[in-house]
Amino acid sequence: MRDFLIAGNWKLNGSSAANEALIAGIVAGVPGGSGFSLLVCPPYPYVAAVAAQVAGSAVSVGAQNVSEHESGAYTGEVAASMLADIGCEYVIVGHSERRAIYGESSFQVAAKFQAAQAAGIVPILCVGETLEEREAGTTESVVDYQLGAVLDAAGIGAFARAVVAYEPVWAIGTGMTATPEQAQDVHKHIRAQLSAKDAGIAAGVQILYGGSMKGENAAGLLAMPDIDGGLIGGASLKAKDFLAIAEAAAQS
Ligand code: 13P
Repeated sequence: MRDFLIAGNWKLNGSSAANEALIAGIVAGVPGGSGFSLLVCPPYPYVAAVAAQVAGSAVSVGAQNVSEHESGAYTGEVAASMLADIGCEYVIVGHSERRAIYGESSFQVAAKFQAAQAAGIVPILCVGETLEEREAGTTESVVDYQLGAVLDAAGIGAFARAVVAYEPVWAIGTGMTATPEQAQDVHKHIRAQLSAKDAGIAAGVQILYGGSMKGENAAGLLAMPDIDGGLIGGASLKAKDFLAIAEAAAQS
């Protein structure tokens, strides 16, 4: 069976002092038991310090973005090898905020996915539809396109070392969570798309749900057969809220 992964995407939030308190709270409250792991993704400048603080605990550290380039004249970019160098184990690629606000294409996302893997970092590939796309009935085709760009570039074999996150854009930061059934439908579809290429790999891929996930709705979502954890924004910024979701995973 797949373990749950409960991942916090801190987005553009934090400070040295606030992060230290947040991590101390999370590490002190990690639920007992097995079958789940915890991850936090702070902004770039804090990845190294958070990696040092979580060392030896049940919490891993990831980044929120990575360059598709290895090195060279790319002012302001951060290479996957640099992230690996400072103890980063995961990186989020293709978050809808980066696609929408920074114009990242699915091809660029695929290049970032491959750059991460080349450095030994596990990419968390985000896919998801907007409200307009859902209402137009194109959710599956949108997700297929976003997933397909990475499958075409990296191949199904790459998904043996990757995580997928289904994040409906309309549920992000809105308080409008997808129902467990709505989320499960899309998770099942994503797994079927992967399974059409390699059933064994598809069965092992963790597919996380993201979008207004919190302690109150986590158990219902995590009870679904194809939901293997969460990618959490707002509720990852307070130890108590994040741990409530971890607790739901520990008890699922
Ligand atoms: P919220 O949990 O704040 O809706 O954010 C979800 C998200 O975008 C995680 O990547």
